[in-house]
Amino acid sequence: MRTQVAIVGAGPAGLMLGRILERAGIDAIILERRSADYVLGRVRAGVLEQGSIELMDEVGIGQRMHHEGLVHHGVELSFDGDPHRLDFQHLIGRHVMVYGQTQVTHDLMDARAASGAQTVYAAEDARLLDFDGEHPRIEYRKDGVTHRIECDFIAGCDGYHGISRASVPLGALETFERVYPFGWLGVLVDRPPVAEELIYAHHERGFALCSMRSPTRSRYYVQVPAAERVEAWSDDRFWDELRARLNPQTAAALRTGVSIEKSIAPLRSFVAEPLRFGRLFLVGDAAHIVPPTGAKGLNLALSDVRVLGAALVEFYGERSAAGIDAYSATVLKRIWKAERFSWWMTSLLHVFPETGAFGRRIQRAEFDYLVGSRVAQQSLAENYTGLLD
Ligand code: FAD
Ligand code: DHB
Repeated sequence: MRTQVAIVGAGPAGLMLGRILERAGIDAIILERRSADYVLGRVRAGVLEQGSIELMDEVGIGQRMHHEGLVHHGVELSFDGDPHRLDFQHLIGRHVMVYGQTQVTHDLMDARAASGAQTVYAAEDARLLDFDGEHPRIEYRKDGVTHRIECDFIAGCDGYHGISRASVPLGALETFERVYPFGWLGVLVDRPPVAEELIYAHHERGFALCSMRSPTRSRYYVQVPAAERVEAWSDDRFWDELRARLNPQTAAALRTGVSIEKSIAPLRSFVAEPLRFGRLFLVGDAAHIVPPTGAKGLNLALSDVRVLGAALVEFYGERSAAGIDAYSATVLKRIWKAERFSWWMTSLLHVFPETGAFGRRIQRAEFDYLVGSRVAQQSLAENYTGLLD
């Protein structure tokens, strides 16, 4: 097979890049290790920044999002039960949209199926070859047969555990990492959300987040130790722990039920540099991971894609390599700002076993400062709704 851009991974990054290229008349094949149903079955991010909302619109797939997504003008932060609402609209005139990653992926897959663009699912053992020269190629196996794709560029959109970053020669990459000593235990339940907006709660028992997917489906998280096993958490134990971390009024309003998904996600900050090796680009989670506290993972993946998509369109349309040459430096600037914000939100809201009473006093002071300072609130709002640059 021959294509212009071979995309590895059919997560939101790979599918969105495919969509941008398709609309510009650039040929791309997406290779995905799993099945489409498996990709859709993963419950992940829930909040879209304004830039991601705009990108969905620009590529012509925003219709269902505007119909079913929930526009949120603010969030609640609480510290040991003391609540404070941040009104994004009032602070900076911006908002976010609650629209799950599953829905974004669904919309992108539907659009791709309708256009007939090629996606190869269940593609095993992908090997990225010769991307340091003019003629990169990918070999993979499907149904026991080895296939080859020849291409101009490879976009590595295959997530943190993918093959793209692992294909870069040792020594060519520098990595920066922080692993947190806790994870998030998440539960999805078909019950109305406890509140109209998200609640991020710091409590001495640990962090808790009340989120949602729709007016009838809620998503809740509690901080748990890194080594925790999901089997140790019955639904009842989860609801008791969540209630204990919320203020009493919120806890009393919580509508519990049988969980329809329950899983633990580890928390990590990670960046690889640079993000281009000859004709291979690293994009999204393949290049960087943020702890989920700022709701940045999916949004950051989409902002990488916007930059790379425009650079490839420029390359094919104007025969200019300026965009692809600048890709790594351009996206790393934004990546590090999102890393900083996600680290900061994580530091404010979680209980860190090693920092003790001093650390908690500092966290309380940070919260009190935020509550008393419009400037600090504007900074949080600007980062949460998505930096413009
Ligand atoms: P992915 O979504 O990981 O997609 C990569 C794709 O590549 C996958 O479909 C994978 O199967 C495929 N792939 C991997 N290896 C290969 C290979 N060798 N060959 C072919 N295909 C391959 N973010 C938030 O903002 N909020 C959250 O609550 C949140 N929760 C998360 C929970 C978990 C468990 C994880 C892992 C992430 C979570 N994130 C969250 C982060 C967010 O979901 C990611 O940032 C987002 O999915 C990144 O999109 P992506 O397309 O770059 O990568
Ligand atoms: C969700 C996840 C997040 O990490 C976050 O900050 C907000 C919402 C969610 O899954 O709904």
